[in-house]
Amino acid sequence: MSGIPVIAVDGPSASGKGTVAQRVAEVLGFHYLDSGALYRLTALAAERQGATWHDEQAVADIAAKLDVVFDGAAILLAKSDVTEAIRTENIGIGASIVAALPLVRAALLERQRAFALVPGLVADGRDMGSTVFPHAPLKVFLTASAEARAERRYKQLTERGEAADLAAITADLHARDERDRQRSVAPLQQLPDALLLDTTEMGIAEAVQQVLAWWHTATEVQRKSVPSA
Ligand code: C5P
Repeated sequence: MSGIPVIAVDGPSASGKGTVAQRVAEVLGFHYLDSGALYRLTALAAERQGATWHDEQAVADIAAKLDVVFDGAAILLAKSDVTEAIRTENIGIGASIVAALPLVRAALLERQRAFALVPGLVADGRDMGSTVFPHAPLKVFLTASAEARAERRYKQLTERGEAADLAAITADLHARDERDRQRSVAPLQQLPDALLLDTTEMGIAEAVQQVLAWWHTATEVQRKSVPSA
């Protein structure tokens, strides 16, 4: 693999991993990959092109040809700003359906690896540590209780002015977690070499500090293991 340092942050929906990963990237001056956005973009592009989310070949072709630009915080799909459009609950469900299709995952693999550029990358998703960056020197499994995650998602949606129903969100999160954990390719799992960060009772700042502390330890261990000339 490329030798670029990568921090892989995996975990279930609404665990806060996106915010934590983004802040860690900012502190370290690393690039950031929101891999879930690529599955969301694929679901949205499929919907816009009239393909059903279960049509594996059609959706994989769409994924391979995604015309996407990450422009700071904005995301453009075929030159149209879809930053908000990919964050709806409906597209989240679509993303988890297309993400279970092996050809779709294969079509997005190299696109994700291309984000590993100097000086380093923080990548968040479900299979960053297992499949996309298996040699990452730090792998974090970031999670929170189902109740805490449902409440966070509810708050996010209501703050954006979207109608939200806590019971429906809890049911959707549960269905999405199950699809992510049970699928045959790249299922969501805590790897034996991933460090567990449970944020149920933890704020963002504390979670960021913990990942940075682990990163410093990981890089220190690496430095010591390289024999001096
Ligand atoms: O992280 P986010 O909720 O935006 O991801 C949307 C969906 O994309 C997830 O529910 C999951 O099914 C899928 N996904 C995935 N592998 C990743 C990132 C996201 O399967 N690396």
